Amino acid sequence: MSSRNILVTSALPYANGPIHLGHLVEYIQTDIWVRFQKQCGNICHYVCADDAHGTAIMLKAQQEQIDPEQLIEQIAKDHQTDFSDFSVAFDHYHSTHSPENRELSEQIYRVLREKDLISTRTISQLFDPEKNMFLPDRFIKGECPQCGAADQHGDNCEVCGATYAPSDLKNPISAVSGATPVEKSSLHYFFKLPEFTSMLKEWAHAGHLQPEMANKIDEWLTNGLEEWDISRDAPYFGFEIPDAPGKYFYVWLDAPIGYMASFRALCEKQDLNFDDYWKPGQDTELYHFIGKDIINFHALFWPSMLEGAGYKTPNGVFAHGFLTVDGQKMSKSRGTFITARKFLDHLQPEHLRYYFAARLSNGVDDIDLSFDDFTQRINSDLVGKVVNIASRCSGFIKKRGDNTLSEQCCEPDLFQTFVNAQFEIAGAYESREYSKAMRKIMELADLANQYIDEKKPWVIAKDQDRNQELIEICSMGINLFRLLMAYLRPVLPKTAVATEAFLNIDPQSWPTDAEPLLNHAINNFNPLMTRVNKDDIDAMLGIEKESTDTDQKPADEINVPAAPRSSKNIDDQDDAETIAEQIDFKDFTKVDLRVVKITKAEDVKGTKKLLKLTLDLGGNETRQVFAGIKSAYNPEDLEGSLTVMVANLKPRKMRFGVSEGMVLAAGPGGSDIFLLEPDEGAEPGMRIK
Ligand code: MSP
Ligand code: ZN
Repeated sequence: MSSRNILVTSALPYANGPIHLGHLVEYIQTDIWVRFQKQCGNICHYVCADDAHGTAIMLKAQQEQIDPEQLIEQIAKDHQTDFSDFSVAFDHYHSTHSPENRELSEQIYRVLREKDLISTRTISQLFDPEKNMFLPDRFIKGECPQCGAADQHGDNCEVCGATYAPSDLKNPISAVSGATPVEKSSLHYFFKLPEFTSMLKEWAHAGHLQPEMANKIDEWLTNGLEEWDISRDAPYFGFEIPDAPGKYFYVWLDAPIGYMASFRALCEKQDLNFDDYWKPGQDTELYHFIGKDIINFHALFWPSMLEGAGYKTPNGVFAHGFLTVDGQKMSKSRGTFITARKFLDHLQPEHLRYYFAARLSNGVDDIDLSFDDFTQRINSDLVGKVVNIASRCSGFIKKRGDNTLSEQCCEPDLFQTFVNAQFEIAGAYESREYSKAMRKIMELADLANQYIDEKKPWVIAKDQDRNQELIEICSMGINLFRLLMAYLRPVLPKTAVATEAFLNIDPQSWPTDAEPLLNHAINNFNPLMTRVNKDDIDAMLGIEKESTDTDQKPADEINVPAAPRSSKNIDDQDDAETIAEQIDFKDFTKVDLRVVKITKAEDVKGTKKLLKLTLDLGGNETRQVFAGIKSAYNPEDLEGSLTVMVANLKPRKMRFGVSEGMVLAAGPGGSDIFLLEPDEGAEPGMRIK
C-alpha cells in the first residue's frame, strides 16, 4: 500500500476562554485519528489555530483593559499548554490573527469579488448608541415577545422556547452598556451562497459527509439558501475588507481560512507545497473534524467559498456530538464545567483519552462522561486487563529469565490471532469507530489474560525444573501485551512510549507483519498506569470528602502478581478459609502497611509451615516475623525480595519467639501461597496508601 498524503484540522477554538472537556472530545478524537494515520506510515499533517477575531474577544479585552492582541496571546499560550498536556500533537498551531491569514482571506475575497460572487446592500440592525457599535444578537437582552419573560437573550426564549428576531424583543437593552439599542442601517457585504446550490447538492451526497449531515444539508437546500453576510462594521477585532474602509470580515469568514493559514505556516517550517493540499486535481486528502454545532459553516459556506475561489473542496467533514457530564450539559453551578486544566490538576490525561475513545462512534450522537463509568473502564480495562498482563509476566522474566524473553514463541497461533486482529482494528480507527476498536482490543486483552490464567506461571514457578516453560509462557504474555500497546498507541501515546522503553524496542508502527520478540532483552517493569481514585474525582468536582474517608487508597493498588483473589491470614494457625466480615474503611486505615525487604529467611525447625523472616523496614528498622509460607517458598529464594507487611500488629509471643508483625500473602495453601510483591521501584519503609 502506498502512503497517503493527508491534511487534517480540528475546529479552531475561540481565543476568549479556556479549553474544556467538551472541546477535548474533538481534539482527542482528531489526534487519535492523526496518530493512527502516522503510525500506519501515511504522511499526515495536523494543523489548528486559535480563532482570535470577533466582537466577543474585542469586548473581553476591553473588560480586562488590555489590547485584544495581548488577550489572544495569553490565551494562545494557555490553549497550547493544555493541548500538549493532553498529548494533542498538532504539527502546527497558528492564529487567525496572523499575516498568513490576512493575506489568504484578502486573496480569496478578491477572487470571489472578481467572479461576481460578492454583493452589497444596506441593512438595518440594532445599534448601541453609547458604545457606538452594532450589537450581535447575543449581546441584546429583553422581554420575550411571546410570553413576556424578562432577561431573554438574542433570538430565542429560554422560558417558552419561542424564536424571533432580536428586534422583536420588548424593552431591549444592550448587554454591553445597558443602553436602549436603536435601529441603524449600514452597508453590508454578502457572499452569494445560492449560486452554489447545485454544487452543494452534489457534494453533500458524494461521500464526504456523514448521513446525518447530508440530510441536514438537504433540509437547508430545500428551504432555499440565502446570501451570507460576511461584513461587520467597526469597531470590530478582525481584518478590514479590501477597498471597504471601516468594514471588517465577519469572524466566520476568516476562521476556516485559518486552516489554510496554519498549513501555510507549516509549509514554511517543513518545506511543503501548499498547493499540493489545496488545489483541485491533487492526490492529497483534506479532512475537517468539527462539532455538530458548526456544520453549516463547514458543509455549506466553506466548500462554497473554496469552490468559488478555485481551491479544492474537503474530502471529508466529520462532525461529532456534544459532551455531557453525568447526563447533563456541562454547568458551572453544578461544578461539571470542567476545564482541561482542572482535569489535569486531579486526573490523568490518558485516562480521558481512553474514555473518549471507548465512547466515540463515527456519528453525531452526544457522548456522556459518567464518572462511575469512567472509573470502571479505566480500572478494569486499562489497569486490570492490559497493564496487568505486563505486570503478571515481567517479574518472572526478570527473576528467573535474566530479563530476557524466550528463544521461541510457544503459542504461534495465539500470536497470529493478535496480529490478524489488526485489520478489524485499523478499519475501526479509519472510520472513526473508536469504541469498536477499543472493544476489539479489550477482547484480545481478555484472551491474553485467559491464556495466563490457564498456564498458571505462578504454579510453574514453584518447580525450578520448569524454568524454560515459565519463561516461554511469560514471554508469550509480554509479546501479546506488546501488540495490544501497538493497537492502543494512537489513544495512549505516553503509555506507549513507556511501554517501548520497558520492552526495549523502537516506537511501534502498525503491526502489519509483526513477529514475536525472541531472545530479546527487556528492562525492569515499572507500573505503566495507576488506577482512578474516586477521591480525586470528588476533589475535581469539588465534592467534600466524608470525614471517615482518608487519603488512603485501597490495597489492591499494590501490584499483586497473578494470584487468586482470596485473602487469608497465613500464620502458624489453621488454614481454614474464612469469609471475612466487612469492616469500615476507617478500620482498614488503621492498618499500617509497609514495603519491606526480606533480608533473611530461615527454616523454623520442628514446624511444618513456618519460616522465620528478618525484615528491613528502611531507616535501620528491622523486624522478625514468623510466616506460614514454608510449603510454597524456599527460604533462599526469598532473600533480597520485597514484600508488604502489617507493621502495627501487636507483637505475638509464639513457641519459637516473638513475631513482630505479619507479611501479606494469599492462596489456597500448600505450594499455592503467594507473597505480595510490590513493583520494581518500591523501597523498604514505603507506606502503602
Ligand atoms: N471558533 C469556532 C470554530 C471555528 S472553525 C473554523 C468555534 N469555537 S469553539 O471554541 O466554540 O469550539 C471549538 C470546537 O469545539 C467546535 O468544533 C465545537 O463544536 C467543539 N465543542 C465546544 N464545546 C463542545 C462540547 N461541549 N462538546 C463537544 N464539542 C464541543 O466553534
Ligand atoms: Zn418566552
